[in-house]
Amino acid sequence: MSKKPKAYEVGYQDFYGRDFLVNQDVLIPRPETESIVDGVLNLAGKSYLPGVIPSPRLLPEVPKILDVGTGSGCIAITIKLELPEAEVMACDISEKALNIARKNAAKYGVSIPFILSHLLEKVKFTPDLIVANLPYVDENWSWLDKESLGYEPSEALYAEDGGLALIYELIGSASVCNTKYLILEADPCQHDRIIDFAKQNSYVLMEIRGYALTFVRR
Ligand SMILES: C[S@@+](CC[C@H](N)C(=O)[O-])C[C@H]1O[C@@H](n2cnc3c(N)ncnc32)[C@H](O)[C@@H]1O
Repeated sequence: MSKKPKAYEVGYQDFYGRDFLVNQDVLIPRPETESIVDGVLNLAGKSYLPGVIPSPRLLPEVPKILDVGTGSGCIAITIKLELPEAEVMACDISEKALNIARKNAAKYGVSIPFILSHLLEKVKFTPDLIVANLPYVDENWSWLDKESLGYEPSEALYAEDGGLALIYELIGSASVCNTKYLILEADPCQHDRIIDFAKQNSYVLMEIRGYALTFVRR
């Protein structure tokens, strides 16, 4: 039986309660990635759970937020819809992925600049917050279901250096451009290494929310 993911058959996937168009040019949005959006709302002092007292607002009133490796655009578009005052921008190394992200932004009526860029290379401003679900899969992990992952773009999944090469490079670049906050997704088995590397680049861990790590620059 074909292991082709249902999202590619039907052409959409739910993320944070909304349907996003997908095709095989983009990663299928995953439920664990929703924690990135929750982390952003927390930094913005917005309660995301009924009855939970929000944390104090740490982001500026009009925060500049950059989504690196936007894929279908699900993170950037959701942030813009949940936090309309934010200036949200997004980048990806894949023009094909950016085309899907633009379609999703049009579907939800949000205006987001989508930039073709390797990490921050073409980004000409300093974001207050960078969010990223970059490729972090190590192709040597024994538990991978390579058959079903084989339908997704490999440049959206795999990275060198135990899966951490792009995350490390982004942390280095974010530090150089003085971005205050980072929210990065990675497998929990990688978290300790990322926390150590971030510390060497002036980022201190604020919280762990599922797969998402939030850092502040000191
Ligand atoms: C794991 S997917 C995440 C997609 C989407 N943000 C999500 O959470 O569903 C990683 C994305 O990073 C992009 N990417 C890979 N290498 C990149 C690089 N060097 N610079 C920018 N984006 C990159 C891929 O094209 C892919 O769209």
